[in-house]
This record gives sequence, C-alpha cells and structure tokens, in this order.
Amino acid sequence: MSTIRTIVAGTGSYLPARVMTNGDLSKVVDTTDEWIVERTGIHSRHIAADGELTSHLALAAARAAIADAGIDAQEIDTIILATTTPDNTFPATAVTVQADLGLHHGAAFDIQAVCSGFVYALTIADTFIRTGQSKTALVIGAETFSRLLDWTDRTTCVLFGDGAGAVVVKGAEGEGTNADRGILTAHLHSDGRYKDKLYVDGGPSSTQSTGHVRMEGREVFRHAVVNIAEAINESLAATGLSADDIDWFVPHQANKRILDGTAKRIGLPPEKVVLTVAEQGNTSAASVPLAFDTAVRDGRIKKGDLVLLEAMGGGFTWGSLLLRF
Ligand code: ACO
Repeated sequence: MSTIRTIVAGTGSYLPARVMTNGDLSKVVDTTDEWIVERTGIHSRHIAADGELTSHLALAAARAAIADAGIDAQEIDTIILATTTPDNTFPATAVTVQADLGLHHGAAFDIQAVCSGFVYALTIADTFIRTGQSKTALVIGAETFSRLLDWTDRTTCVLFGDGAGAVVVKGAEGEGTNADRGILTAHLHSDGRYKDKLYVDGGPSSTQSTGHVRMEGREVFRHAVVNIAEAINESLAATGLSADDIDWFVPHQANKRILDGTAKRIGLPPEKVVLTVAEQGNTSAASVPLAFDTAVRDGRIKKGDLVLLEAMGGGFTWGSLLLRF
C-alpha cells in the first residue's frame, strides 16, 4: 500500500575547535584519565569558545546537512531544534537559525527532552511530514552543554561536551513495507517520577538563573540500560524486524559502558555500534546526529542500510527510531 515516508536526504555536524582532554580536566578537578576512561570510555570532549553559542554550532551543522542534501535552503518549511542550552530563555534558538539561513517562511521551534531531544525532534518531523504539515524539514540537535556544568563537581563535569548535528528530511512515496527508505517506526517515552535523578538546579521560574547539572549516576545507569533495551524491542516488534536485520546502531553517546550493556542486551555485535563518545563525550541532544553524520561521512552507513537510533535523558525521557537510510 502506497504511503508517505520521511527520508533522510542529508546529514551534517559541527564540533567546536577546542579539545579538552582528561589530562586537562585533571588540572581542574580531582580526577584521573584512568578513572574517566574506565568508567565512561571518554578520552576527550570539545568545548565551545567564549562567545560561541548553541545557534552558531547549530547553523554550521545545518549548513553542512543542507549542502549534503543538495537542496536550496528555501525548500525548508520546518526547523525543529532540540537543545537544553538555548542561546536565550526565549526566543527559540531555532528562529535564530531560521533567520541566519535567510528563511522567512514556515515554522521554527525548539524542543526540550534533554539527551532524548533529537529522537523526539525527528519523530515530530516524521509526523509533520506524514500528515502533510511539512514537505522538507531541518532537524537539529545542538548543545553548549559545558555552560551548565559545575566545574567543581567531578561526578558530572567529566561526562559532557559541546557540538551539533543536523539532518534534512523530506517526504517520499513508499510501499508501506520494511524495504522502504525512510523512518519505519518511532517510539517515545517519559516518566517524570524520576525527574530528580538528573536535572539542572535552576531555571527562569524557580531561581531566575541557569543552574548546574545534578545527577545520581548509578540510578541513571540502571534505568538507562533497561529503558533503552525496552524501547528498542518496541521498534523491532512494531516492524517485525530482528536485531540481526540492523546494519548500524547509532545510540545516544552517554557512556561506553551503557552502550556496551545495551548492545549486549539486544544481541547486537560491537562492530555494528557507532561510537563517538571517546572523542566527544556526552553532547546531550547533539550526540545522535553527530554520531549519525560521522558514520555517513566515513562510509559506514550507506543508502539502504537499516539504522537504529535510541536515546535516554533527564526526565527520564527515552525513545527509539528505526529508519532505512
Ligand atoms: N574521578 C575520580 N573519582 C570519581 C569521579 C571522577 N571524575 N567521579 C566520582 N568519583 C568517585 C566517587 O566519589 C566515588 O568515590 P568513593 O567510593 O570514595 O565515594 C567513586 O568514584 C565511585 O563513584 P560512583 O558514582 O559510585 O561511580 P560509578 O561506578 O557509578 O561511575 C558514573 C560513575 C560514570 C557517573 C556512572 O554512574 C555512570 O556512568 N552513570 C550514568 C550517568 C550518565 O551517563 N549520565 C549522562 C546523562 S544521562 C544520559 O545521557 C543517559
């Protein structure tokens, strides 16, 4: 049966120039390269320069994705930007990107689901396209997460980094089968009972300040492996596909141990997992599109490959999405 599918027409990403290694961090807080690598798999992360804003990172990633898609930017009718670190409380950072791209039509807005933000944003774009609200959408995950860190708290500041990734998605005719290119299924979840496990201790309404990241690491770890595996199984069940059918697993890059645990739980061999956490740390909403673009650029993800995306973050929020590239 003929159906509208949301296909990925182009990908792009951007990382700030400055690299901060674990050695650099050990001069700021009481930590060691050995501890960070063993517990997280992270060796270094990128940190935005003074004056370099989330919108700047987002714009660079967006331009790369538009060039890769080979479209005129004027074709874009929707911009959805996932971020926890907007330039300002309002307006949405997406409208800055819209203006900087020279666009004056369509809709641009931010969404907030912390590390799950990109999977949420892509799912919204898919719904917009399949219902005819949008024909060509730009979906971005961009963060200057370093600005939310308490640089005296070694339990959090070693984990995160800055960056941006973007995709251009377009509507296309499909047959309604798993052989179609495009998004095949998506599943989103949240459970606010756990909002105190990972949060920022400030905000416009509560403290009139930005605040810093606070986290119960062990609790996050425990829930992450279980929730992510369940969401992935949901995507597989909805399509009737199995783990063996997946060509590439592009997870949110929280921590190598979480990713190893998840891959094992769903029966995916390590060589199918796209890992960028070692050089980028956890870039929150940017991590999935950054990893996706990395594997497209280096030739691993090819047209027709079945790609599994997943993410989990504060809230808790989590979700998974299966697409054929
Ligand atoms: N350097 C050195 N020692 C440290 C550091 C550090 N950076 N951080 C903590 N420690 C110490 C602790 O103080 C503690 O010392 P103590 O035993 O003397 O009290 C010891 O290391 C063990 O601390 P734990 O918190 O129990 O360490 P754990 O093995 O749980 O590892 C970690 C901590 C890496 C944060 C882990 O819990 C984890 O990965 N959690 C998931 C968190 C995550 O990925 N969050 C990202 C956001 S959510 C998401 O994106 C899914």
